[in-house]
Amino acid sequence: MKGLQLIATGGALPGRLVTNEDLSQLVDTSDEWITTRTGIRQRHFCAEGETATTLAVAAARQALARSGLAPEQIGCCVCGTLSAQYATPSTACLVQKELGLPQDIPVLDVNAACSGFIYGAGVARGLLAMRENDTRRYALVIGCEQLSRLMDMTDRSTCVLFGDGAGAAVFELAEDDGFAIDLGARGDMAITTPAGGPIGMDGRAVFRFAVDALPRTLHAVLEASGKTLEDLDWVVCHQANSRIIDHCVKKLGADPAKFYKNMDRHGNTSAASIPVALNELAEQGRLTPGMRIACIGFGGGLTWGGMLITVKGRAV
Ligand code: UT7
Repeated sequence: MKGLQLIATGGALPGRLVTNEDLSQLVDTSDEWITTRTGIRQRHFCAEGETATTLAVAAARQALARSGLAPEQIGCCVCGTLSAQYATPSTACLVQKELGLPQDIPVLDVNAACSGFIYGAGVARGLLAMRENDTRRYALVIGCEQLSRLMDMTDRSTCVLFGDGAGAAVFELAEDDGFAIDLGARGDMAITTPAGGPIGMDGRAVFRFAVDALPRTLHAVLEASGKTLEDLDWVVCHQANSRIIDHCVKKLGADPAKFYKNMDRHGNTSAASIPVALNELAEQGRLTPGMRIACIGFGGGLTWGGMLITVKGRAV
């Protein structure tokens, strides 16, 4: 079976650092509440001149440079986002323009909220497979968000949770029996964001959904690939809440050290959270050739998605 293998990663975080203490000056909250309920200590918001587009371009540029590929070798570009700067042109088209990607390839955004990067990878794999005679076997997949633009900064139940950022990955479509992907959705208004905002969420309902969807999706990709938890080097979950990941680890009887967490530093960056985490692991030298990673997203839609990928070559 042909699957996606990870070649390189990139990331970008905006310049305005916002701590829990800063937010407690704005709304009736505290560092203690936010930390114990979510594991989040700080997040980054876009500063003057920064947007979802500038972050996506920076992350994609870095991933492409690290891949050692020329722009002409990219066969499709897909960006997962719910907070694109423009409805059109898509963020992916703006990345295409800035990076000089080919013009005869598919380029688009997908909105699957916090599952957007996994959905984006799934779409990219399908697009590459569809063009089987094309020698361009590489996909540029991005997750980017400027959620600070969509937040009600007077609503303490949401404004403490989210952050801005972008991550990107270059994948190669190659023979790989260990690859698996599982995508699903259930129309539900538990998380809503009208165009222009604000983000609204029934936190408890989404928490219940997440602690079910996460282990279920992880099981689905393991079963599809014939692998077990022990075969995995990393599990990179959407970084919504530390307690959701802890719950999943406990339910699975898994080794917590395999479950990467960074929500303490970035908050919940929706579609960007998984590629930002992959990029951090790569930059720390903790992604080496042959490693197997499960990436699991869940969020608005409601949507969920998981994929099991292999690291090909050094990721950075
Ligand atoms: O990325 C998409 C996926 N999203 C998620 O996975 C999010 C899933 N949900 C969660 O992570 C959690 O439900 C939250 C972190 C959003 C909320 O935590 P919780 O433990 O479920 O709290 P809660 O909503 O049940 O609220 C508990 C209390 C309430 O007060 P009362 O009614 O008990 O008096 C809230 O009003 O905490 C209060 N509260 C706050 N207090 C201080 C809510 N937000 C805050 C706040 N600071 N920021």
